[in-house]
Amino acid sequence: RAAQQAQSLALSDALQRACDFYRAQLRQAPNAIAYLKGRGLTGEIAARFGMGYAPAGWTSLKSVFPDYEALALVESGLVIDHVDEDGGNKKRYDRFRERVMFPIRNAKGQVIGFGGRVMDGGEPKYLNSPETPLFSKGTELYGLWEARQAIRDAGYVLVTEGYMDVVALAQLGFPQAVATLGTACTSTHVQKLLRQTDMVIFSFDGDKAGRRAARRALEACLPHLSDDKTVKFLFLPQEHDPDSYVRAYGAEAFDQEIESAMPLSQFLLREVSGEHDLSTPEGRARIQFDAKPLLASMAPSSLRLQIVRGLASLTESTPAEIESLFDLSKPVAA
Ligand code: CTP
Ligand code: MN
Ligand code: MN
Ligand code: MN
Ligand code: MN
Repeated sequence: RAAQQAQSLALSDALQRACDFYRAQLRQAPNAIAYLKGRGLTGEIAARFGMGYAPAGWTSLKSVFPDYEALALVESGLVIDHVDEDGGNKKRYDRFRERVMFPIRNAKGQVIGFGGRVMDGGEPKYLNSPETPLFSKGTELYGLWEARQAIRDAGYVLVTEGYMDVVALAQLGFPQAVATLGTACTSTHVQKLLRQTDMVIFSFDGDKAGRRAARRALEACLPHLSDDKTVKFLFLPQEHDPDSYVRAYGAEAFDQEIESAMPLSQFLLREVSGEHDLSTPEGRARIQFDAKPLLASMAPSSLRLQIVRGLASLTESTPAEIESLFDLSKPVAA
């Protein structure tokens, strides 16, 4: 019966109202405030990102939406409808409970989803909005709206993995950071980033997952590069992510890391060199084999030529030999 009575409410309207509620709740949640302070954040930075707190309780959002049961709220991702297996009883409850809330905004600054972090060791560590008509992980970048002016001022964007990386970097003087929200960096992400700026610096976690993310980002970038764009990779020590690194070593040390970030060309050649033995023809052939699909995905450019030259000298070949072996004279598919 509730479904029949469902009243519609604009998705973005519902999300904004929830965001306001979570923000107000944070002011009344000393444990959440202590958690954020413990992570080095000030109230000012929390406010800049619209951070909030989803209180305990299964239906706290009833105070935001008095007709909670009747509204079409499921599509917003704010609530979950549990229906008994026999199709009978429906129980509606809040998706986000007892979590520090990070609102995710689109290019216009509208709230389109949330990430929520537990404050103890609970699982999952982060709970995100589901895919909705407004929110899709593979296209959105956390913090892009908040960072847009800082990216212009800095002349580059830092791309991290997580919410806390973005917020902690902003706190410590690097407001030009965004995050891919734990998913791989997609072609759509890259295109969005390159529309905003001429330089992208990927700064993923130092662990294995972060290094894998860098490899995926490299592959996502190659088809979209042109000679007026620069892509770099900042590799952190194994045990660090940008948040923990900048808090452990400070802003100046992180600045140094940015200064010495590895250009994409160098990363590509390092990736294809891998463990292969440069002293044998088989090893050098194997490097060329690994490089072929990467170079083939690039449009003709000076940068591609430079990488071909680097590969040629590494593998005792000539650029012309590589271009002909890799069919690089053929036009690439877009
Ligand atoms: N993530 C997620 N769900 C999880 C774990 C991670 O969506 N269960 C996403 C989040 O966007 C998170 C990012 O992946 O920010 C990176 O994950 P991780 O490095 O594990 O977390 P941190 O951002 O470092 O989180 P924290 O510093 O708060 O522990
Ligand atoms: Mn990680
Ligand atoms: Mn972290
Ligand atoms: Mn991390
Ligand atoms: Mn290899």
